[in-house]
Amino acid sequence: MRTHYCGQVTAADLDQTVTLCGWVHRRRDHGGVIFIDLRDREGLVQVVCDPDRAEMFAIAESVRNEFVLKMSGRVRRRPAGTENANLTSGEIEVLCQDIEVLNAAATPPFQLDDDNLSENVRLTHRVIDLRRPQMQKNLMLRYKVAMAFRRFLDAQGFIDVETPMLTKSTPEGARDYLVPSRVHPGQFFALPQSPQLFKQLLMVAGYDRYYQITKCFRDEDLRADRQPEFTQVDLETSFMDEQQITALVEEMIRFVFRESLAVELPAPFPRMTYAEAMRRYGSDKPDLRVTLELVDVTDAVADVAFKVFSGPAASGGRVAAMRVPGGGSLTRGEIDEYTRFVGIYGAKGLAYIKVNDAAKPNEEGLQSPIVKNLHEKALTTILERTGAQSGDLIFFGADKTKVVNDALGALRVKLGHEKGYLTGETWCPVWVVDFPMFEYDEDDKRWTACHHPFTSPKDGHLELLKSNPGECLAKAYDLALNGWEIGGGSVRIHRADVQAEVFEALNIGPEEQQVKFGFLLDALKYGAPPHGGLAFGLDRIVTLMTGAESIRDVIAFPKTQRAQCLLTDAPSGVDEKQLRELHIRLRQKVDNQIEIARD
Ligand code: AMO
Ligand code: AMP
Repeated sequence: MRTHYCGQVTAADLDQTVTLCGWVHRRRDHGGVIFIDLRDREGLVQVVCDPDRAEMFAIAESVRNEFVLKMSGRVRRRPAGTENANLTSGEIEVLCQDIEVLNAAATPPFQLDDDNLSENVRLTHRVIDLRRPQMQKNLMLRYKVAMAFRRFLDAQGFIDVETPMLTKSTPEGARDYLVPSRVHPGQFFALPQSPQLFKQLLMVAGYDRYYQITKCFRDEDLRADRQPEFTQVDLETSFMDEQQITALVEEMIRFVFRESLAVELPAPFPRMTYAEAMRRYGSDKPDLRVTLELVDVTDAVADVAFKVFSGPAASGGRVAAMRVPGGGSLTRGEIDEYTRFVGIYGAKGLAYIKVNDAAKPNEEGLQSPIVKNLHEKALTTILERTGAQSGDLIFFGADKTKVVNDALGALRVKLGHEKGYLTGETWCPVWVVDFPMFEYDEDDKRWTACHHPFTSPKDGHLELLKSNPGECLAKAYDLALNGWEIGGGSVRIHRADVQAEVFEALNIGPEEQQVKFGFLLDALKYGAPPHGGLAFGLDRIVTLMTGAESIRDVIAFPKTQRAQCLLTDAPSGVDEKQLRELHIRLRQKVDNQIEIARD
């Protein structure tokens, strides 16, 4: 129906007659002349309707925002001084000869250029929201990124193999979404939390290099960077070790950023161990744009009078300090706000010392309610390790190690961005390697897999599985970018006996192993090659690239924080007949809950 996209008509088309199809973005009536900004996915073009063609002009007068039009006319240069440098079509306008209304539109629920919309309104009227130029840009970039991944992987000999959606649970640490079976009463499929086990089986089956851009489903607490269904760029390869796999995917990420954003990422990406990341940044996905760092002072304060410090030091916790250069100028109110902030992460307070004179490690040079309860030796060590200078401030966290890391790690990022403690780099990727195999679940009183139970222990760490699981390190690696975990993976266990041992360490006995993972243990017996891989979160990568605040802005039809689709109103009730076919009866309690939720 058209000769050009609206957004692509340029000065190269001067004096040509073009036909355009699109939506009325704006209609301005300039007493006698009507300007219509016609919009399609490539952008806007200004169409001028003069009253000398009465029939055409009458239609132009009648159109409203979001009407769908077909417009023909001649391209001419805009009068000097009226060019719009923000538009590709900004040098020209189209003098309208003919309009056809292809469809009228009801008044949209909101103006497309309204930047103050609530997300609920946007998600309820997602179709209109998706028309907004920013959303169209986001989704087009997402496509570019996905295509760049495909091109790279295809060129490297990876083949795309689809894996099932109706399957058995794959433990990635979240709750499963379950699908009841009609044919098998009382039995359920799980939607995959990832294709993890299938991609390993493909390696055993000899496919050598697999990839897939696929949906994963996890029923977990949602945040700005999490969705219940999200997309992974998932890959697996045989006969490559940890170094080779990370080098290959690093090349891939650099390629994707170059191709889709024209950004050259640093080479090589810095690498640090999990232990170092936790020690210096309190996080396994450190934001390396921020220059602030934590240092350990646990040993130095073990014998001080201040119980807040000596207590955690004595009971295996952590006392960490963070120097804030020039932070002596922080106000009482700011410090109170930061104290409330770390409270979100479970910190019981936020001790600090203002360094008035770094040469005097005592009450004379240091200003703080806690100084009198710290001896001079401790204070000297604190000043030395933090490198604090006169005019600085030092914040402290003292608690269980996890609380200190979470609290100071988050404060580091907040302060860094708010107060400008930044390197100035736009993109800071970092590999975090040598993750522990297991973490201890205090609630359940048992070891759980840090990555997933199919991850190989480091060479020489097999012995630790039984003797000291907490010290056992894994061949697992994450790629963090600007404080977000964008991808993670591992070298896998390819021997059935080792896999069984790891299950043992996770307290999964032989019988349960057979029921849950018998097919994997079986496959590993028939000549499984050494293999490993990784998965990237596509939604997260595109979110970082667009600068959007939430991954919902790069997903066409996302769920809310409460795991609902407001557009289609899902999830929703089903009728009794469907339930009966699935052999399901709702408990009374559920009905009550539904009523409570509706109230
Ligand atoms: P993992 O669980 O680390 O690894 O997931 C890989 C990447 O997927 C992204 N991601 C998410 N994105 C949005 N919403 C979520 N709820 C969500 N959960 C994870 C993250 C993460 O880095 N099978 C392994 C990979 C492997 O070992 O090969 C796995 O799924 O960016
Ligand atoms: P208190 O002795 O409880 O009045 O605390 C003295 C200072 O230590 C205050 O600045 C508190 O914010 C801080 N504080 C208390 N508990 C902790 C903690 N667990 N970690 C860091 N600072 C703390």
